[in-house]
Amino acid sequence: MKIREFTLDDIPKVLRLERVIFPDPWSAAAFKEQVAGEGWGGIVAESDDEIIGYACYYIVANESHLTNMAVDPKYRRKSVAKRLLDNILQVVTEGGCEYIFLEVRPSNSGAIAFYEKCRFEVLYRRPNYYRQPVEDALVMGRHIAKAEQNQQL
Ligand SMILES: CC(C)(COP(=O)(O)OP(=O)(O)OC[C@H]1O[C@@H](n2cnc3c(N)ncnc32)[C@H](O)[C@@H]1OP(=O)(O)O)[C@@H](O)C(=O)NCCC(=O)NCCS
Repeated sequence: MKIREFTLDDIPKVLRLERVIFPDPWSAAAFKEQVAGEGWGGIVAESDDEIIGYACYYIVANESHLTNMAVDPKYRRKSVAKRLLDNILQVVTEGGCEYIFLEVRPSNSGAIAFYEKCRFEVLYRRPNYYRQPVEDALVMGRHIAKAEQNQQL
């Protein structure tokens, strides 16, 4: 498996996965802004020329936000997300960030378990954040210790 930068050419393949995985998938325009916008970025995990996972982030001052992360259902529980997150933590640390935050649906117990395993904590609940279906968001975050940059999560 290879982790590499998410480029505009990847958007059609990522959209196919996004639509299978999420009830409220991002649009092509949202991914385009994510990949090409100032302070924004993304990475993909590739196996045999197929995209099997992706993650996006943006950086504001010393904070980073994990805006999207997903792994093809066929490739789950094989540490693909762990490697994606590891890679993003390195990128945002190099970009001067000390914190990383994300939103997740309270009903998404698998993702919450993953983030807790990666030492994120639930910080607070944001009411009615999601659409299709309407749901609160849990805001999770963690401090990024510089000494941990090269360690496994
Ligand atoms: C959440 C998600 C990205 C995890 O991807 P993954 O590649 O399967 O995760 P990893 O294999 O790296 O998991 C690392 C560890 O996290 C924990 N974990 C991951 N998924 C879990 C689950 N569904 N239930 C419980 N623990 C889980 C486990 O401790 C796992 O280690 P283990 O497999 O040795 O037990 C994936 O399930 C997914 O794409 N979900 C749908 C999209 C989504 O919800 N994205 C997040 C939106 S905020």
